Amino acid sequence: MLIPYRSLFLCLLLVSGPPLTSKGQSTSSQGLVADHAMVVSAREEASKIGIEILRQGGNAFDAMMATEMALAVSFPVAGNLGGGGFLVYRMADGRIGSLDYREKAPLGASKNMYLDKDGNVIPNLSTQGILASGVPGTLAGIFEAQAKFGKLKPKQILQPVIDLARNGYVVTKNQAESLRMHRQIFIQINGLNTFFGKEIKEGDILKQPVLANTLERIAKYGRPEFYKGETAKILVNYFQSNGGIISKKDLAQYKAVWRDPIVFPYRDLKIISMAPPSSGGITLGQIMSMLEPYPLKKLGHHSPEYIQVLVEAERRAYADRNHYLGDPDFVKIPTNQLLDSAYLKSRMSNFSFEKASKSADIARGDLSFSESMETTHYSIVDSDGNAVSVTTTLNGAYGSKVYLEELGFFMNNEMDDFSAKAGVPNMFGLVGTEANSIAPGKRMLSSMTPTLVEKEGKLSMVVGTPGGSTIITTVLQIILNVYEFDMGMQQAVNAPRFHHQWLPDLVNFEPKAFGTALVNQLKSKGYLLNEGNSPIIGKVDAIRVLPNGKLEGGADPRGDDKALGY
Ligand code: DON
Repeated sequence: MLIPYRSLFLCLLLVSGPPLTSKGQSTSSQGLVADHAMVVSAREEASKIGIEILRQGGNAFDAMMATEMALAVSFPVAGNLGGGGFLVYRMADGRIGSLDYREKAPLGASKNMYLDKDGNVIPNLSTQGILASGVPGTLAGIFEAQAKFGKLKPKQILQPVIDLARNGYVVTKNQAESLRMHRQIFIQINGLNTFFGKEIKEGDILKQPVLANTLERIAKYGRPEFYKGETAKILVNYFQSNGGIISKKDLAQYKAVWRDPIVFPYRDLKIISMAPPSSGGITLGQIMSMLEPYPLKKLGHHSPEYIQVLVEAERRAYADRNHYLGDPDFVKIPTNQLLDSAYLKSRMSNFSFEKASKSADIARGDLSFSESMETTHYSIVDSDGNAVSVTTTLNGAYGSKVYLEELGFFMNNEMDDFSAKAGVPNMFGLVGTEANSIAPGKRMLSSMTPTLVEKEGKLSMVVGTPGGSTIITTVLQIILNVYEFDMGMQQAVNAPRFHHQWLPDLVNFEPKAFGTALVNQLKSKGYLLNEGNSPIIGKVDAIRVLPNGKLEGGADPRGDDKALGY
């Protein structure tokens, strides 16, 4: 189904806890400062296990495996075995790279699989239930990264995660509320006796023995257990006997792919971010390049002019995103042209501070070539200075809501990130075209933007967030908050956010965070504001390297997020 745009915000609210109360500053503006190493994630349990692995002599990639799996246990709304994600890394010596462990359309998928006989999109089919899932990539991703760069044995890394699943953890208020709100849909999709169909309250200890068993087998047999072993058999058997299309061959063929990250300058910064099939790096690069000629600091943080110029750059970049971007293994992406500074300058040439542009007039740019809620982010820096920025997801909260009772985890609903029909918005209100249409084995376009920032040749920031289509503009604002407005990491994370994505032609503001005078000024210039819904936007977990070399964490107060370090 194509959930109306407002459901994006409902999704974000459900997964991210209550809105901020005033000006977005609900906690201390000083983040945790650590001398050597840090993990910031959506859950204290996951950050703790990541740090424990670092203390045992593991590096950032060992801690990645530990943190990712600990999130699968302690943050089932988004942490996952049944989903996928992206890693961007920077080694202490400056080498950079990225790993794409995005889900793929099953081989049995087809372009019009979510359309009825009249060519209309069938409600819910790409977001809920057995047909909504892509082939999961998470296990391939963490094993690939750890095998290439890690130092410890997966068994050692996964032991504390298995213990967490078996012994349980204390359910937080946000989590109890989220589980309560989804309970009926879990039962509707999986039956009355489904594991998460029971009432789970704040303060309960949540033990997941079935998941512990699955993780134990994975620790013992490694990656093949998930893609070819008993876990694969159970998963495929479930899909095949319930009308699904994920097959043995789909799992056996799945591979995580090393890709060159998108690298671009912004003033004296070097930004390193995710390449397609995520739109994150290119779209962030386009926006930042369009912003560069403007004196943002002088315009003032959250001044009407600052908001205008960001919104106008975002409008133009998302128009290109939706037209040109898709899986690079299937479509040719004009990356260099899209990031060309002369092209981007010309894109902004019709913007004036006097009056809002209209998305209807903006369409995608003409390039000069003839051919052709819920996600989670964690940031890690180890004591050697290696950094990983990882965003991982089931897509919507608890993905497709299909829970594999014999394996103990939810499956993703990432198929909704494809454009089911050209021009029809998906659950994030994003419209796509042919570049992001469904094809067997193709990866769906993402907005996930795990990002690293270098300044003067040194690591400066590790940034990322969930939030669907709002991910890119949130990462943008965090970098600008620190770089242009001299905020600390935590302060930058706390600061209220706004978002525009070309279509729908609406500016979204976080709740109660932007004054009426400012809102009225923007309205008087013709900006259309999403006033009915004022959701929180994103949930950032970031690290900044301070001038003295220490690390400052930014753990988003919008959730239960936690920075730990030593
Ligand atoms: O890959 C993407 O862009 C989406 N599947 C991300 C979903 C998301 O961030 C949901 N979180 N609120």
